[in-house]
Amino acid sequence: MPITIHEETPPPGVERLVRAEDPASGLRALICVHSTALGPAAGGCRMWDYPDWNAARADVLRLAEGMTRKTAMADLGLGGGKAVILGNPHRDKTPALLRAFGRAVDALEGQYFTAEDVGMSADDMAVIAQETRFAVGLDGGAHGSGDPSPFTAEGVFECLRAGAEVAFGSADLTGRRVMVQGLGHVGTALAARLHGAGAQLLVSDLDAAAVERAANGWGAQPCAPDAVLDQPMDIFAPCAMGGVLTGDSAQRLGARLVCGAANNQLATPEVAEVLRARGIHYLPDYVVNAGGIISVAGEIHRAGPGYRSARLGRITTRLRDVLHRSAATGQTTTAVADRMVDDILAAAG
Ligand code: NAI
Repeated sequence: MPITIHEETPPPGVERLVRAEDPASGLRALICVHSTALGPAAGGCRMWDYPDWNAARADVLRLAEGMTRKTAMADLGLGGGKAVILGNPHRDKTPALLRAFGRAVDALEGQYFTAEDVGMSADDMAVIAQETRFAVGLDGGAHGSGDPSPFTAEGVFECLRAGAEVAFGSADLTGRRVMVQGLGHVGTALAARLHGAGAQLLVSDLDAAAVERAANGWGAQPCAPDAVLDQPMDIFAPCAMGGVLTGDSAQRLGARLVCGAANNQLATPEVAEVLRARGIHYLPDYVVNAGGIISVAGEIHRAGPGYRSARLGRITTRLRDVLHRSAATGQTTTAVADRMVDDILAAAG
């Protein structure tokens, strides 16, 4: 069944913004192609209960720009894009809606590859893939890379250890109090690794069952969602939604190191300066959380098995480079990373 695709006028610097609607299935989605300067745009699809189109538009634009930075920094021969579906994934997600979204992705004819993000799973990608070959993160098949989340968690964990070396003089996490905010696909995999490394876990999620599992399984200390930033902790690992660090919360944060999977952790760019001034080491989100897009890039490029592992290892190399340049220049880590990406994009014309 055809769906309605509206081309919206994208803001300056954005290549394409598309609104897709399908009344029959209830699909309401936005797809943003931020940049194809380095290759076809790639980025996950988020399903979230946005209050209105404007909130969804603001989110997709910011997330898509972040994907351009992430794919450029990770040197994947891909551009940046993102999709958001308006709706509650627990209540509104149906096979018909997912298939309608697949048709919307297909209408972009390969300009945008979609994958999992918040509210979506590898099983959902399989349904979407019934309508388009531009859905990745699939289980099985010759090149299927599966759920990207474990690889995101792996990259974040290794960066967290590298950051601990700088913040505390040692990568050893034994006894370190680490707050994991969000126990979804990535947060749970990260918490498991942290537990294995001897960290003392503090956890928070809107889903009480996820918190209970972490408390029972790993002896994690549960924390109410609105009290996360006021807990005594060594390391903060945001793995839920973006914008968690504001000027105010950055002033209160007790951690010495911030390293997590969430996209767009800083509510505004100025927050990086607040953290720096307080001696808190902030590891830029799009540098440390590239493991998932690296995994799906291998699927997009139909690369061999060595592709993912070789590139996962380079995440910490790039992070160390950012930390080194930041220490040498006194600039924030985000300013340094953004500059590196701007240079890559400028060189690509
Ligand atoms: P998910 O949907 O599996 O998990 C998100 C979790 O955060 C859910 O359990 C949800 O209940 C919880 N949550 C939401 N708001 C919260 C709050 N205020 N306080 C505490 N918990 C809250 O999502 P996933 O895939 O684990 O992604 C987590 C973050 O990492 C997102 O920001 C996503 O964009 C980012 N990311 C994910 C990648 C992946 O491979 N899945 C790749 C790169 C970034």
